[in-house]
Amino acid sequence: MNILFMGPPGAGKGTQAERIVSDFGVPHISTGDAFRLAMKEGTALGLKAKEYVDQGLLVPDEVTNGIVRDRLSLPDCEKGFLLDGFPRTLAQAQALDEMLADMGRKIDHVINLKVDRSFLLARLTGRRICKSCGSTYHVIFNPPKQEGVCDKCGGELYQRSDDTEEKVGTRLDEYTSKTAPLLAYYGDKGLLREVDGEKDIDAVTADIASLLRG
Ligand code: AP5
Ligand code: ZN
Repeated sequence: MNILFMGPPGAGKGTQAERIVSDFGVPHISTGDAFRLAMKEGTALGLKAKEYVDQGLLVPDEVTNGIVRDRLSLPDCEKGFLLDGFPRTLAQAQALDEMLADMGRKIDHVINLKVDRSFLLARLTGRRICKSCGSTYHVIFNPPKQEGVCDKCGGELYQRSDDTEEKVGTRLDEYTSKTAPLLAYYGDKGLLREVDGEKDIDAVTADIASLLRG
């Protein structure tokens, strides 16, 4: 099954993707995670991405499309994939259509997590992530059992550098101007499925799983 997760920053894409991939057995491909890993490793890609990610701006399409094209060609994607945070511009959506057409594949579901902007700032500024395994927590909505420590692997939790109030504002503006128009793109193709992302985390997972099981 080939799935896209859409939704504004903080809608819960990463949180839900972690849960859904373990149920559906497809790889989780997050362009945001790929950029953060490259930035941590200090590669040429990481240095390029850092110029944009640190400001809350989208990384240029040609850089982002190349990463996704390479990732989708790996053998573990043959059984399907869950793309989280890609595409985010019309040019990326068109590039993805071409990549999939070349592979003789198509998108099965586009899940849009709908969350009002008023919820997003609190979700993002309270987010904490495990340095070792990447699991996502929230200081209030999804706290670890022990403060600052990952439940799954005992790793240390940290706050993303773009989860400050100022950068969240820029990220939301980028979403509104460049990514939100994609909802009409996929709506017109009959692929868009809306999910209420304001419910609690377990309820959202159940709604997505039931949509995917059809
Ligand atoms: P990326 O990492 O993709 O960030 P994002 O889209 O801004 O999304 P987030 O990861 O912030 O939010 P999420 O929806 O995954 O929410 P989460 O589940 O963590 O991208 C980062 C940057 O990389 C971009 O700004 C850009 O520079 C670059 N980039 C990435 N992709 C790109 C692309 N395609 N093109 C160009 N540039 C690109 O949840 C948030 C918090 O809320 C967590 O603490 C969680 O515990 C909590 N939470 C989740 N669900 C609920 C719930 N139902 N109730 C209460 N709390 C909840
Ligand atoms: Zn961990």
